[in-house]
Formats: sequence, C-alpha cells, structure tokens
Amino acid sequence: METVNHNFFMEQPIKGARAYYMRNILHDWPDDKCLIILSQLKASMKPGYSKIIINEMVLPDTGITLTAAQLDITMMCAHAAAERTEGQWRHMIDSAGLMIEKIWTKVQEDESILVLVPKPESNGV
Ligand SMILES: C[S@@+](CC[C@H](N)C(=O)[O-])C[C@H]1O[C@@H](n2cnc3c(N)ncnc32)[C@H](O)[C@@H]1O
Repeated sequence: METVNHNFFMEQPIKGARAYYMRNILHDWPDDKCLIILSQLKASMKPGYSKIIINEMVLPDTGITLTAAQLDITMMCAHAAAERTEGQWRHMIDSAGLMIEKIWTKVQEDESILVLVPKPESNGV
C-alpha cells in the first residue's frame, strides 16, 4: 500500500477508485464542511463502480447509548459538529448528490457502515 498526502477539502487525487473509505471523519465537521468533503469525493468517483464507505455512528431518533450521547456532545463542543441520526445522514448525503445504497449496523453497537453511490441523475457529472 502506498500512502498519499491529501487535504480532503481539496481535489481527491485518486480517480475512479473502487472504494473511498472514511472512518470517524465526518462527525468532526458541520454539514457545510461535510458537503465539501463529499463533493470532492463524488467528483472523483467512477459511476457504476466507485463507492464511498463511511464508518460512523448512525443514531436512532430516541434511546441512544450513553457513549453515543457523550460523543455527540463532545463533537458539538469541540467542532460544532455532531453524531448523526439516519435522517440527518440521508439529508446531508442527498444534498451532496449522493444516495445511501446500504447501511450496515451491528446490533447493539454504536458503529455503522454507510455505502454511498452517486444519485442516478448525477451519474457522470
Ligand atoms: C477523528 S480522526 C479519525 C482518524 C481515523 N480515521 C480513525 O478512525 O481513527 C480525524 C482525522 O482527520 C484528519 N484530518 C483533519 N483534517 C483533515 C484534512 N483537511 N484533510 C485530511 N485529513 C484531515 C486528522 O488528521 C485525523 O487523522
């Protein structure tokens, strides 16, 4: 594996990758900054082939764990950001011209995998 320095607010240098993986990145940023990060990735995706894989919390609307609540408050205080509910994820991802293909959540764990692809109308853009 070869590592490459990269600022995720700038153009993604690796074009047409099979997968772009981010773990605990977007929870550090408010929605407007997440949209820039996602837009840079979307611009580098090969439609029908590339996927964005996000490893983060997907909170239920009610009844979150103490760990999730603590992290949510920490993200708010430290970064003006948040742990996100499924609805919040869907809204942000839709705004970036992407859609959720699948959410994998291990039962009773505060960690999920979201698989994103470009929205059909934005393929090739
Ligand atoms: C919460 S840590 C997550 C690290 C790792 N992915 C994990 O799950 O343990 C956020 C990471 O984002 C990186 N980061 C912050 N701003 C960045 C930027 N503009 N471009 C690329 N990486 C950045 C930080 O260096 C840090 O490694």
